[in-house]
Parts: sequence; structure tokens; C-alpha cells
Amino acid sequence: ICSLDTFFGFSLCVCVCVSSSSRLVCYYNSLAENRAEDRQFTISDIDPNQCTHLIFAFSDINDVNELVPNNATDLQRYQSFNGLKTRNPQLKTLLAVGGLTFNTEKFSIMVSGLQNRTKFIQSTITLLRNSGFDGLNLDWRYPGRAGSKPEDKQKFTLLCKELKDAFVAEGTETNRDRLIITASVAAEKAVIDASYEVAQIAKYLDFINVLTFDFHGPWETVTGHHSPLYQGSHDTGDKIYSNTDYAMRYWQEQGAPTQKLNLGLAAYGRSFTLSSSSTDVGAPANGTGEEGFWAYHETCLYTEGTTLHRITDQKVPYAITENQWVGFDDKNSLDIKVTYLKTNNIGGAFVWSLDLDDFRGEFCKQGKNPFIDHLHTLLVEAALKSGTLTTTTASVTAPTKTTITNSGGPVREPCIGKSNGIYASPNDSNSFYNCLNETTYIQKCPPGSIFKDCCKCC
Ligand SMILES: *[C@@H]1O[C@H](CO)[C@@H](O)[C@H](O)[C@H]1NC(C)=O
Ligand SMILES: *[C@@H]1O[C@H](CO)[C@@H](O)[C@H](O)[C@H]1NC(C)=O
Ligand SMILES: *[C@@H]1O[C@H](CO)[C@@H](O)[C@H](O)[C@H]1NC(C)=O
Ligand SMILES: *[C@@H]1O[C@H](CO)[C@@H](O)[C@H](O)[C@H]1NC(C)=O
Ligand SMILES: *[C@@H]1O[C@H](CO)[C@@H](O)[C@H](O)[C@H]1NC(C)=O
Repeated sequence: ICSLDTFFGFSLCVCVCVSSSSRLVCYYNSLAENRAEDRQFTISDIDPNQCTHLIFAFSDINDVNELVPNNATDLQRYQSFNGLKTRNPQLKTLLAVGGLTFNTEKFSIMVSGLQNRTKFIQSTITLLRNSGFDGLNLDWRYPGRAGSKPEDKQKFTLLCKELKDAFVAEGTETNRDRLIITASVAAEKAVIDASYEVAQIAKYLDFINVLTFDFHGPWETVTGHHSPLYQGSHDTGDKIYSNTDYAMRYWQEQGAPTQKLNLGLAAYGRSFTLSSSSTDVGAPANGTGEEGFWAYHETCLYTEGTTLHRITDQKVPYAITENQWVGFDDKNSLDIKVTYLKTNNIGGAFVWSLDLDDFRGEFCKQGKNPFIDHLHTLLVEAALKSGTLTTTTASVTAPTKTTITNSGGPVREPCIGKSNGIYASPNDSNSFYNCLNETTYIQKCPPGSIFKDCCKCC
């Protein structure tokens, strides 16, 4: 419980702070039920105790702007999905709308006018409540994509705001926990710029899944890892933006609180057909189409016995089998990505998707669900062990103001473009900065204490 209103004077903070980096959000792809028998993944294959949030992907928008199930049979699936909560009362479930193959025109039409948005929002509340979901996941890819209307960026902000307002009102009226509102968003700089008023939507959304994968793929003519952590030495031009680190920092710089962000992890690799004897990152390659998508369990199967190569600057592995070059994540790169996430105080991770893991434990020889299980150990169990609740008492006594002035050098003013408030200092956990009218005031926590973004306190 923190009083920061008298910030420049004296304030005593007693903080109960939920340990950060504990969110593990997992997508369930309902189309995986239609696969051939040995690859079929159903709701009964989901372990309800591994992820903190489960997202049902996807639902649809009908001709009159209402949120509707994809399929009459999906209503039944919603019941089974939400029934998982009886086996884990802490579990939260969300319904996603949109996705990669969704006709985005439906979003454009729905957001275009207040009446259409209201229709969508009211139908959303009804569907979520009747089916037992805890919230919504907006998966519009993307409001600013080629072919969308120029005003869709601002209309998306309006949609987020009106959803939040309506969810707050409904929660108060019915005396129930407010429905959660979340979105899955672009990781490519150009798409972010075209699609989102970041600081604004971040105010309304409870968390934001940044899609930090598919940066590269078989649609390109040279090999490249689809979900690198860092920029590679071979990256030039706009390619320097195509990595997880840049995307996560860009969302923060644009005004999204780190604790609301989830880092995206893909339980699949992307492969290329090598077209010469060269096998490095950036080697010439031919397209592979659909076959260029390797579920995590397939990477186990096909890379068994081959040497794993590590891209040292990007911290991710690739393997070569015959003329196939495949970049994916393994336990080692997941360790590094989760350490990155914790170091940077990012709220959590999300995974696409449960059905791609070795869910029967028949390919990787590492038991059931090795990919998700490893993340559960790193994120959820680690947070529990460190004590989900940490109590800190800190007093901040008349801190000294330090104004950073932009002396024309390459120093980036941390507060430029940020709304007034207190932010974690990315470089020094003992200090934080206070932004007031875009002026930066660096302040120090008392010796021996660190700043926590979740409570904005030391
Ligand atoms: C809808 O349900 C039918 C019958 O169960 C199934 O064949 C079809 O693939 C489903 N469609 C979607 C989009 O899930
Ligand atoms: C609202 O939705 C209808 C379709 O239901 C569409 O014809 C119309 O263009 C949309 N926009 C506005 C502003 O009414
Ligand atoms: C790659 O594409 C080129 C040109 O389309 C073709 O000549 C070559 O045979 C292809 N290589 C492989 C390995 O498929
Ligand atoms: C953090 O460190 C980086 C690299 O050392 C530097 O460029 C940046 O200005 C620092 N940011 C702040 C807010 O001190
Ligand atoms: C910040 O800006 C607002 C509006 O421009 C102004 O009213 C306020 O006095 C400013 N505060 C400080 C501390 O400069």
C-alpha cells in the first residue's frame, strides 16, 4: 500500500508486491482438433496446472458485428475449456477473436461507428459470461496493415477504451470480477507505428502479447531465425528491428508499462530449403511453404542425432538436416529468453500454441509437454518459490532531483513522449525516474532496496 502523492516530500511505502514475471499465457488452437488422429489435440489434452492463463483461439464476428463462436460445436467446447477451472481455481480463461487467417475487414467494419462497436461489446459480455470466460483477447492482425482504413489505428484505441469502460461497468453492476481485456500485437516496428497508439491502448489493456516470432521465414530467400532474441551481426537496414529485444524495448519506449507486456514464444520452428552448399545464417534458400512450419515435437523428431548450432549473437539455435535449415527454440534458448524477461521486469510470456508441444511425450523423450513444462518451471514455479508475496517497507525521503538535459548528443531522453508518472530505470534497479511534462527526474531508492514497477515503489 503505497502513497506516492506526496512524492517530492516524504512518503512511507509499505508494499505488498506480487512477484513479477510469473504470467504464462498459453494459446489453445481449436483447429488442432481437426487434425489427423495421431496429431489431434483436444481440450482433454490440456493440463490446467501449467499455464496461468489459457486462451481459446479463435472466435468470429458476424454480419451484424456480434462476437460469435466459429462453429455451433464450439459452444460445447467453451464449456469443456472453462470446466478446466474446476481443476485449477486460479486459472484464467480468455476467448480470442481474429488471428492470422481472419478476414480483417470484419474488424474494420465493426470499429467504424459507435453503434457497431457497442453491438460488439454487448455481445462480447454476453458470450463471455454465458460461457464462463474471464475475458477477451483481441487478435486483429493488424489495424494498420496494408489495405486497412487509415483511421483504424485510432478506432482500435476507441474499441479498447469502450471495452474497458463497459467491462468496468458490468463488473460493478453485477458485483463480479471485472472481465479482463487483452490484445496480441505486432512486433515489427513499421506495423507497430502504423497500427497502435501504444501509450493509450496500454492504459486500457490488462496485458499485451507481443508477437515476437515469424520475423523471418520461408517466404524469404536467405536463411534466418524466425524468433531471435537479439539483432544479428548480419542484420542491416530495417532488419535491425526484426528481433525480440528490439520489439520489447520499442513497446516500452512508446509507453507500454513493462509489467503489462508478455514476450511471445513459438512452440515451432521455421525451415528453409538450402539452395547452395552454404549453411550459415543468411545462406541462400528456396521457399518451403507449409512444410516450412515445424511443430516443436517435429524439431525433436527430425533433429535427433544432428548437431545443434547456436547463433551466438542472437542466442537461438538452428539445425541442418539434409537440405533443410530450421531455426527454433530449445530449453537453452528458453532459459535465456526467460532470464531476459525477468531482468527487464517484463510481466510474463505467452506461447503459441499448446498442440505444437510434445503433448503425449512420444517424440522428445522428455516427458509430456516438455516446452510448456520447462516454461512453467522457469516462470510459475520460480515465482512461487521466491514467495509470491514479498513485503517491503521503504521510505523515500525528499529525493534529490536530477534533470537530464539533452545536450544534443545521442542520449535518449527517457521521458520524451511518456505520460507523467514513475518508471523503472532500465539500467539500474536501485533507481527510477519520474516524468513530469516530459522532463526526467532520476531518483534513487534507499540503499539496499530496489525499485519495483508493480507497485511503483522501492
Ligand atoms: C466446425 O465443426 C465441424 C464439425 O465438427 C468441423 O468439421 C469443422 O472443421 C469445424 N470448423 C471449424 C472452423 O472449427
Ligand atoms: C456498421 O456495420 C454495418 C454492417 O452491420 C455496416 O454496413 C456499416 O458500414 C458499419 N459502419 C457504420 C458506421 O455503420
Ligand atoms: C531453388 O530455386 C531455383 C530457381 O527457382 C531452382 O533452380 C533450384 O533447383 C531450387 N533449388 C532447390 C534445392 O530446390
Ligand atoms: C542505459 O544504458 C544505455 C547503454 O549503456 C544508454 O545508452 C542509455 O542512455 C541508458 N539509459 C538511461 C535511462 O540511463
Ligand atoms: C505541466 O504542464 C501542465 C499543462 O501544460 C501545466 O498546467 C503544469 O503546471 C506543468 N507542471 C509543471 C510542474 O511544470
